Amino acid sequence: MPELDGARPPRTADLRRLQEAAAQCQGCELYRDATQTVFGSGPATADLFVVGEQPGDREDRAGEPFVGPAGQLLDRALREAGFDRAHLYLTNAVKHFKFVRAERGKRRLHQKPGRAEVRACRPWLEAELRAVQPRLILALGATAAQALLGPAFKLTAHRGEPIASDELVPAVIATVHPSAVLRAPDRDVAYRAFLADLTAARSALD
Ligand code: URA
Repeated sequence: MPELDGARPPRTADLRRLQEAAAQCQGCELYRDATQTVFGSGPATADLFVVGEQPGDREDRAGEPFVGPAGQLLDRALREAGFDRAHLYLTNAVKHFKFVRAERGKRRLHQKPGRAEVRACRPWLEAELRAVQPRLILALGATAAQALLGPAFKLTAHRGEPIASDELVPAVIATVHPSAVLRAPDRDVAYRAFLADLTAARSALD
C-alpha cells in the first residue's frame, strides 16, 4: 500500500501534540469516510494502557474512544475489577471508524480493519506507548492483541495470561472485546470471564 500523507507522528511525547497531528493523518484510506480521527484518551501517567480495535459509530461521532455500548460494558467491568477509568489510557489499534452503509438507510455497519490498516496506524500506537510508558497493556480482542503481539498470537489459547513483550510493550494481557461479550449467547457467563481477565490485569499491577 502506498504511504499517504501524514502517516508519521511527530517525535514528541506530548499527547496533545500527537493528537493534533493524528487528526490530519491520511496514512490509509479510512480517513476519507470517517468523521474524524479518534485518538486515545487518558493521562500520560496511566499504569494501564487499554487497546481496542477501532472506534465504533458513537466514538466516530463523539471523537472519544469507548463511549458507546461496548464502552459502557467496559466501564462497568473496569470498575468492578477495581480500576478508575480516569486513571487509565484508552485507545484503539486503528483510529478511524471502518464501516459499510446498510442497504437503504443511514445505518453504518462496523467492518473489521484489515492488516494493512492496522499496520498503517501502528506508528500512532507506538507514539502513544512512548508517551505513556504504561506498566501493563490490556488488549481487547484479537485485532488489538495481534497488533501488539504479532499475527500468530492466539487469543483463545492465552486470554488472561500476562505475556512479557518487548521494551515498548513491557507486558500484555489479552482478553475478548467487550462487544463480543454483548453478542455472546450467554452474556452473564461471557461477562464473568471478561471480568476475571480484567481482575488478572488488576492483580498484575499490584
Ligand atoms: N470498540 C473499540 O474497539 N473501540 C472503541 O473505541 C469502541 C468500540
